[in-house]
Amino acid sequence: MQMALLQVFIILGAFLKLASGVAYNIKVQANSSFSCYTEIFKNDTIKPKAIKLFLGKHNLQVICHLYDTNKEDTKENRRKNLLLYTSAGLAPSIEIFNSTYSKVFYFKMTLGENVDSWSIDIPRANITYNTDIAPVEEWFVKFNMHHGLHMFTTEGTLLDILREPILQWVWKLGVPLLIDDTLPHLINTTVTKSPCASDAAIIGLIYDAKITGLGIIIGITENGFMTRNTMWYNMTDTICAVLEDDCSGLALVDLILINTRLIMLTTLGLFISEDLRYSTGQLLKFSKPTLCGFEMDDYFRARIWYNRQCLANRENYEVDYVGLSFNKEKTLSQIYVDDSPLAFPGQYLISSITAVLIGGIIFVAFILHVYEIQIGTLLKMKFRKNKVAPKSSITSASTISTETIEK
Ligand SMILES: *[C@@H]1O[C@H](CO)[C@@H](O)[C@H](O)[C@H]1NC(C)=O
Ligand SMILES: *[C@@H]1O[C@H](CO)[C@@H](O)[C@H](O)[C@H]1NC(C)=O
Ligand SMILES: *[C@@H]1O[C@H](CO)[C@@H](O)[C@H](O)[C@H]1NC(C)=O
Ligand SMILES: *[C@@H]1O[C@H](CO)[C@@H](O)[C@H](O)[C@H]1NC(C)=O
Ligand SMILES: *[C@@H]1O[C@H](CO)[C@@H](O)[C@H](O)[C@H]1NC(C)=O
Ligand SMILES: *[C@@H]1O[C@H](CO)[C@@H](O)[C@H](O)[C@H]1NC(C)=O
Repeated sequence: MQMALLQVFIILGAFLKLASGVAYNIKVQANSSFSCYTEIFKNDTIKPKAIKLFLGKHNLQVICHLYDTNKEDTKENRRKNLLLYTSAGLAPSIEIFNSTYSKVFYFKMTLGENVDSWSIDIPRANITYNTDIAPVEEWFVKFNMHHGLHMFTTEGTLLDILREPILQWVWKLGVPLLIDDTLPHLINTTVTKSPCASDAAIIGLIYDAKITGLGIIIGITENGFMTRNTMWYNMTDTICAVLEDDCSGLALVDLILINTRLIMLTTLGLFISEDLRYSTGQLLKFSKPTLCGFEMDDYFRARIWYNRQCLANRENYEVDYVGLSFNKEKTLSQIYVDDSPLAFPGQYLISSITAVLIGGIIFVAFILHVYEIQIGTLLKMKFRKNKVAPKSSITSASTISTETIEK
């Protein structure tokens, strides 16, 4: 019983950690709010309250009704609202926007036998022409009764499931499993969101170190763990395939989803996935960068450093950078795990310069951490001039540079 409660807390803890990063949630103005969902929820009696829409290959079909937060959300009340606003000549609008784009679509005026909701059917091409798999910002959506009046403004998200890199691997992450039997051994979880789309997230289960042989278990969601349909996978075999020796003692320490790769820190080392943009139809494969001289115990205490940034419409000098710090040895490895999008002669130079700069920032943050300097203290010191970035040699994609700080 106590164990079960702990699990609930852990899962809830993970969820809250995730939810706090989602900037937009339902805001209720006056006492009415929109409830909007896509076609698949049409027949469910309980409609999801948070608005999470998904754009697939075809049209975006959205159904909305108004409900009064003080009253029961019944078909009769919905119909009453529909009649009230339609007779006043009002219909809802949906605004779809991200940091570089905004467009408003209008719902049709509807009246008819048995109708209790407004609906709209937007062709995919009216929202985006692109269909390639790439990091792309998740859109926010804003529903209003009659655009411009800001009545009953209700917000939500719209995720492009056709383009989001990690979602192309939803069925190809490992061996599907049910986690129920493993839950008594669960001691912690780690959650990572796609840098561009907070609703696409991965949760890693961390088990009691005394219980061996459970392996690497992760779950994936496309709706920020709002529903119970998280899919769970056993990735042990995929990881073991990379290791030449036997893989006893393999356990998950942490995981990070960057723009184009999934990175897993395990007790047997760091594993970097292949580029998520190019689906192969086979299980997601990993490779292991060689970091000499570290053992299981070091990895167990290691920590991944990642500055989460969405690289949609990125410039050539923007790269993803991951740092790995080893507690015991006070050592930082900088791993540049990104391919530049365009091949032009200056590409390596520019991305190397940025890599060195970002590496430098991670390095400075690491130093601060090692010497337990608080950022607050630092700000009070009126930091005038940038610290010189440490030397670091990066050659090209997926090469490693290791720096050791002697204390
Ligand atoms: C909203 O509900 C509160 C009570 O819950 C009520 O006092 C208030 O008048 C309502 N406002 C509107 C605009 O209906
Ligand atoms: C909803 O129910 C109707 C009939 O009751 C059925 O024709 C329709 O296919 C169902 N829609 C979905 C999305 O399940
Ligand atoms: C989508 O675009 C087409 C062509 O521009 C337009 O005719 C149609 O009305 C648009 N649909 C919506 C729902 O805005
Ligand atoms: C915002 O959405 C538009 C329209 O779909 C898209 O073309 C653009 O790339 C998106 N911007 C970012 C930064 O993802
Ligand atoms: C769970 O993980 C978090 C973040 O890594 C850590 O701060 C916390 O101490 C861990 N809890 C347990 C019980 O190990
Ligand atoms: C995951 O797979 C490995 C290897 O096939 C197996 O040993 C382990 O028991 C599995 N984990 C669970 C929780 O079923």
